[in-house]
Amino acid sequence: MSAAAPAAAPAAAPAQQQPAFRGVFGFIGGVVANAVSSIFIIMVVAAFVAQHVLDHKNTIAKTHSPEIVLARMLARFEAGSVIPPIEGYHVSRPDAVAMLQAVLRPNKVTRYPVVVGETGCGKTSAVLDAIRPNRTGIVYHIVGAELLVDVPKRLAGSLAFEFNQFTFTAGYFKDRGVEMEQVTSAAEPFKSWAILDLSLRDVAAQFKAKHGHVATLVIDAVDEIDKQGSELLHAIQKFAKSAADEQLLNVVLVTCDGSNLPALKESSAMTRARVVEVGDLTDQQAVTYLVRRDIHEDLAKRAVAEIAGGRLILLNNLADDLQFKTVEQISTQLSIQTADSLQDVIDYSEMHNATSAVHKSLCDLTHGALHINIVHRSLGKDLTKKLLATNINILAYHPNDTYTLHSRHVQRSVAALLNCTTP
Ligand SMILES: Nc1ncnc2c1ncn2[C@@H]1O[C@H](COP(=O)(O)OP(=O)(O)OP(=O)(O)O)[C@@H](O)[C@H]1O
Ligand SMILES: *[C@@H]1O[C@H](CO)[C@@H](O)[C@H](O)[C@H]1NC(C)=O
Ligand SMILES: *[C@@H]1O[C@H](CO)[C@@H](O)[C@H](O)[C@H]1NC(C)=O
Ligand SMILES: *[C@@H]1O[C@H](CO)[C@@H](O)[C@H](O)[C@H]1NC(C)=O
Ligand SMILES: *[C@@H]1O[C@H](CO)[C@@H](O)[C@H](O)[C@H]1NC(C)=O
Ligand SMILES: [Mg+2]
Repeated sequence: MSAAAPAAAPAAAPAQQQPAFRGVFGFIGGVVANAVSSIFIIMVVAAFVAQHVLDHKNTIAKTHSPEIVLARMLARFEAGSVIPPIEGYHVSRPDAVAMLQAVLRPNKVTRYPVVVGETGCGKTSAVLDAIRPNRTGIVYHIVGAELLVDVPKRLAGSLAFEFNQFTFTAGYFKDRGVEMEQVTSAAEPFKSWAILDLSLRDVAAQFKAKHGHVATLVIDAVDEIDKQGSELLHAIQKFAKSAADEQLLNVVLVTCDGSNLPALKESSAMTRARVVEVGDLTDQQAVTYLVRRDIHEDLAKRAVAEIAGGRLILLNNLADDLQFKTVEQISTQLSIQTADSLQDVIDYSEMHNATSAVHKSLCDLTHGALHINIVHRSLGKDLTKKLLATNINILAYHPNDTYTLHSRHVQRSVAALLNCTTP
C-alpha cells in the first residue's frame, strides 16, 4: 500500500492550517491585523483558484449549464434581432408592413403563419420593415446557402444558443419526455435540430410566463432548406404547428411560393398554416421607385407598364439596365425567353390553335387571375406544374387559390405571341 501514504498527506494539510491561523489572529491586532488579513485574503483567493483549476470540469458544467445557455437565448428574444437600416431609395409599403406586423404580433396564436410571395417581390425587405420599429420579442433568421447539416447551427447562432456549451444530461431529456439516446443517436442535422427544438420550447415557455404573450421566431427563405431535402423543413413545420397548438411560440416561415408551396403542403402540418401573401408594389409605387433610382418619369412609366409592373427584383434590374438599353430592347429579350419557355412545355399546334383549351386559358390569364380549378381543368395538372416551375416562370400561384401569369412582361409577351384579343 505504497500509494496510500502520499495521498493522505495533502488531505491532512488544511486541517493542520486552520488552528495555526486561529492562533495568529488570537495574538495580534490593530495595524498588523490588517496586513495579516490581506495575506489571509490572498491565501484564500489562491486556494480558491487552485480549487477552480482542480475542478475545471465542474466549473464549466456550472457556468454552461442548461439554465445559463437558456438564459442567453431568452435575453436574445427579449432584446430582439438587430435589423439593418433601410436603403436610400426605399419605397414604403404601409399595407404590406401593417399586414406583416399583425402576423408578427398576433393577439392569439392559433395557426403558424407562412408568408409567401414571388421571388424578389420584397418579402425579406417587408418583413424587416415590419420588425424594425419594435424588435422586442422577435428573433429573425434567414437561411443562407449553407449546407443542410449546418442549418440548425446557423439558426442557433441567430438565437444566441451555444450547442458546444450545453451540458446534456439524461435527466434533461427525460424531463421533456425524450430519451437521451434518441437524440444523441440521430444523424445531423436532425440531432442539432432536436436539441434546438427542446431548448426553444423551454425558452418560449419562460418568455410567455414572464411577459404574458408569446415570442416570435421568423425563419426566412425556408425554400433554401427545401432545395436540399424537405425532411428538415417538415420537422421545422411540425415544430411550428405544435408551438401554435400549444400557444407557446409564434413561428413565422417565409418562402417563395411557386416552387415551395407544394413541398410545404406535403406536410400534414400545413393544415395548421395561415398563408399570407406579400404581393407586388402598385404601378404608381413602382414608378416612384424608378424615379428615385434616377430614371426619367416618362421612361419609368413605360418600363413599369410594359416590363416590371410592381415586381421589385425586376425594377431593381431595370434601374441598372435602362442606363444602357431601351425599353424595346429589354422587352424583346424577355419576350424571346417567354417564347422559349412556352415552346419547351406546350405543343406548338395547341398553343396557336385559337380554339384549343390551352390557348383559351392562357389568353384568359392575360386578363387576370383564374381559380386553380379552372386552370387545372383546361391545362391539366401536369402542364400547370411545368408552367409553375422556376426555370419556366410562366405561372404564379397565389394563396387565395388562384393563378396569374408570372409577371407583367410575361403577361404582355403571352398576349402578343398567342394573338390574344384585348378584353
Ligand atoms: N420597399 C422597397 N423599396 C426599395 N427596394 C426594395 C424594397 N423592397 C425590396 N427592395 C429591393 O428589391 C430586391 C428584392 O427584395 P427582397 O430581397 O426583399 O425580396 P424577396 O421577396 O425576399 O426575394 P427572395 O424571393 O429572393 O427571397 C432587393 O434588392 C431589395 O433591396
Ligand atoms: C414593443 O413591443 C413590446 C411587446 O409587444 C411592448 O411591450 C413594448 O411596449 C413595445 N415598445 C414600443 C416602444 O412600442
Ligand atoms: C384546333 O383545336 C380544335 C379543338 O381542340 C380542334 O377541333 C381542331 O382540329 C384544331 N385545329 C387544328 C388546325 O389543329
Ligand atoms: C387572388 O390574388 C391575386 C394575387 O394577389 C389577385 O390578383 C386576385 O385578384 C385575387 N383573386 C381573388 C378572387 O381574390
Ligand atoms: C395573329 O393575328 C394576325 C392578324 O390579326 C395574323 O396575321 C397572324 O397570323 C396571327 N398569328 C397567330 C400566331 O395566330
Ligand atoms: Mg427574401
